Amino acid sequence: MDIAILGASGRVGKFLIEEVLQSERDQLVACYVSDDSAHLGQSIAGSELRYQSLSELPGQRSDVLIDFSTPVATMAGLDDLELRTKALVVGTTGLNTQQEARLQLASQQLPVMISANFAESFEPFVAACRNISAAYPQHVPELEETYHDRKKATPSGTSLRIRREILDARRIAGGTDDIEIPINVIREGDVIGQHQFRLDLGSTKFEIGFEVDSLASFARGALQAGRWVRDRSAGSYTPNDVFASKHGNN
Ligand SMILES: NC(=O)c1ccc[n+]([C@@H]2O[C@H](COP(=O)([O-])OP(=O)(O)OC[C@H]3O[C@@H](n4cnc5c(N)ncnc54)[C@H](OP(=O)(O)O)[C@@H]3O)[C@@H](O)[C@H]2O)c1
Repeated sequence: MDIAILGASGRVGKFLIEEVLQSERDQLVACYVSDDSAHLGQSIAGSELRYQSLSELPGQRSDVLIDFSTPVATMAGLDDLELRTKALVVGTTGLNTQQEARLQLASQQLPVMISANFAESFEPFVAACRNISAAYPQHVPELEETYHDRKKATPSGTSLRIRREILDARRIAGGTDDIEIPINVIREGDVIGQHQFRLDLGSTKFEIGFEVDSLASFARGALQAGRWVRDRSAGSYTPNDVFASKHGNN
């Protein structure tokens, strides 16, 4: 599979480059950074491929463009999208409503996979939170997240997704969805990402956690999502579609 990366010089982008270069079935065909990036023109791992600006078109068309950049860059990446790629994976967070709407428009042309959390094993964690919540719809769970102190979104898109899933599972199980599920937000040091789900039933308690130790996990998850989405028809997908297609869950 031919892969292009938007945000290739970033913290996640660097792991993506490593993952693609190590993969026997994938080729790296483009690495995009900003117009004023310090990396522009530099070689990728000593190869002929160089960091390039999005404004350099025509670039090499990819099977999948994987984006871990900024909302502005994501929007710029949507210009001339069909010339660039056959499918799109978006990991960039913090998109506003208008930007999300533009992404949805793009999904009418191409398969687009979007998630605030591509970490491997995240979907089974969400499924566990759903299942426990559905079993006890009369009890209200609590969520907690801990991230590095540079993180802007409060709470994270990941916690908002977990909360949405819990409310949905409760509703299907006959519980009310007009409850407040508290999210305790902690910011400290260099923590990559930790999430806790707690449900107190009185005499027994559930507590399950999910922790990402390396940004490589997001890169690997996004690459797997890219392999899945590239053969789909135009539309908007999430890693839950991948999980459900493998496990028949949800
Ligand atoms: N969905 C998930 O699973 C997940 C996981 C982790 C992080 N994220 C999100 O992914 C995004 C990137 O995270 P990160 O920690 O890797 O950020 P980062 O280290 O700040 O990297 C940002 C990248 O975007 C590039 N960039 C910035 N402005 C650009 C523009 N106008 N045009 C083209 N490229 C541009 C930067 O290139 P230059 O600076 O070299 O120009 C850099 O390569 C964030 O939104 C973060 O919240 C998502």
